[in-house]
Order: sequence, then structure tokens, then C-alpha cells
Amino acid sequence: MIRGSFINKRVDIGGLVLENPIMPASGTFGPEMESVIDFNLLGAIVPKSITLDPRSGNKTPRVCETVAGMINSIGIQSKGIQYYMDHYVPFYSKFTPPLISSLSADSIDEFAEIAHIVTQSDDVAAIELNISCPNLKGNGLAFGMDPEVTFKLIKEVRAVTHKPIIAKLSPNVTSIQEIALAAEEAGSNSLNVANTLLAMSIDVHTRKPKIGNVMGGLSGPAIKPVIIRMIYQVAQVVKIPIIGCGGVSSGEDAIEMMLAGASAVQVGTSSFIQPDAMLRILNEIDSYMNQHEMTDVRDLIGKIEIG
Ligand code: SIN
Repeated sequence: MIRGSFINKRVDIGGLVLENPIMPASGTFGPEMESVIDFNLLGAIVPKSITLDPRSGNKTPRVCETVAGMINSIGIQSKGIQYYMDHYVPFYSKFTPPLISSLSADSIDEFAEIAHIVTQSDDVAAIELNISCPNLKGNGLAFGMDPEVTFKLIKEVRAVTHKPIIAKLSPNVTSIQEIALAAEEAGSNSLNVANTLLAMSIDVHTRKPKIGNVMGGLSGPAIKPVIIRMIYQVAQVVKIPIIGCGGVSSGEDAIEMMLAGASAVQVGTSSFIQPDAMLRILNEIDSYMNQHEMTDVRDLIGKIEIG
């Protein structure tokens, strides 16, 4: 046992070095959590996706519980980029972890425009391109479901920013490897695997969908095995780092994602159940490292043993 020895938790996600691999999933974290957790202990800060203009979001109900998860269809409610730059960026820049700005848009040109705006701020460390929200178009269609659109979108954003780009991929595709390769080729520095799974739930008494927009995105422990599989598949074909996202609620879940190939891990639904879940997960990673006499989390990345 080497309990108490120094554990390196520092990881690199494509030119952006984090003090530890744990960060919030976009949309599950906000300034109000400051009273519950010390933001300085996180690997990075990832606020809700921001759009160029304000958006009121989708009709209610926007969330419902499922077995081992939840469905959401918020519809990217947003105060718009100007409010974000004037209020959120100064607020989050008080903390030491790098700020990753998650961007959403209705067109490729709009993605480039908003990326150009956030690039003007030295307080924005990286850009996460949310090309995979299932709640903006009919039947969950998203930019990130087509490799050619993914390539074009990232290429256009690449042309307007020097900041690291994280492409947040959709799990609602036939081949996530194909989309991952398109994103890498277009200049993405890392990949987020992945957004929520397109889902639906019906109240059998009212016979109405439980979500106002009918369909939404499934998150939480129910999707973790699907995401682990996708991280593993993506890690087989790309050279850029992967950020795992989907159903992590314990340190062992985060380690599982890293063994599959993730360099860092986002925590979302779990924070709705326990707002300081990310800090507990960090402590549980320490316990695992001590138990396995390990001193560097990077020794976990992609270290699944097959056969
Ligand atoms: C939403 O705002 O509808 C969720 C965001 C997302 O899944 O990307």
C-alpha cells in the first residue's frame, strides 16, 4: 500500500492541461452550485451551451425520470452570447480551472460566428462544439449525425479560432467511428463521447408523452455501457484525446471510461442527485489509485486488457 502518496491526476485533453480529469457535463452545472462545491477542485468548468441570440427553449415538461436515468428536452435555453461574455465569463474566470465554452447554433456560419466571439476572450480556454443536441430539430436530427457536415462545421470553426476545439459527438449514429474521424480530420483537438441518447417515454394513464417535445435525450447510469462501448470504438481509430460523458456516478465509473480510452470524464445527471458528486468521484478515484498502488491517472487511459 502506498496510501497517502502523491497521485498525479493531471491530464491533457488536446493542448489543454487539466489538474484532474473530472468536469461537469454542459447543462448540468451553473453559478448556483458555488454554494455547494468548491469550483477550484474541478478539472475544468463547462457551462450550459450558449447560442448567438437568446433562446427560450422547448415547451414543458422538459425533463422526466426513467429507470436508472432521465430524459431531457430543454432546447438549449440560452441568454445569448452577449450576456454570456458580460456575465458568465467574468464569473467563471474567478476560479482556477479552465473555462470550456460550450457552443450551440442553428447553422455552420452561426457556429463560426459565436466561436469567433468567444475566441476574443483570454478567459475562455477551449471551445466545446455541441454538434449533437437531439432537441433542436425533428426526430433528434443534429449536425453531428453526418460525417460531411461534421467535417465542414469543424473546419469552419477551426478557421476562426486558435483555441482547443472539443467536438461533442452524437451517440445517435450508426458509426460513431466515422464521425469521430471526420471531426479529427477537420481539426478538432479532442472529442466528447457523447451527448444523450434519443429517447421517449409515455405516461400510460394520460397517454401523453412525458416530454413536451415528445422525444428527448436519455442520460444517467442507464446509458453508461453504451457510452463505454463508443469510447472504446472511437479510441481504436483516433489519435486525439477523448472526454467520456454518459452515466458516470462513481469513481469506478470514471475509471471504467478511462480504461476504455477516455483521458477525462464529464459528470452530469449524477450532480442532479448529489450536487457535490464530482468531488466524491475525485475522492473515489484516489481510493482506487491507492488500492491499486498507482500514482498517475494517465496510466489508466486506454489500458483495458482484452484477451
Ligand atoms: C438541451 O438543451 O436540450 C440539451 C442539450 C444537449 O443535449 O446538447
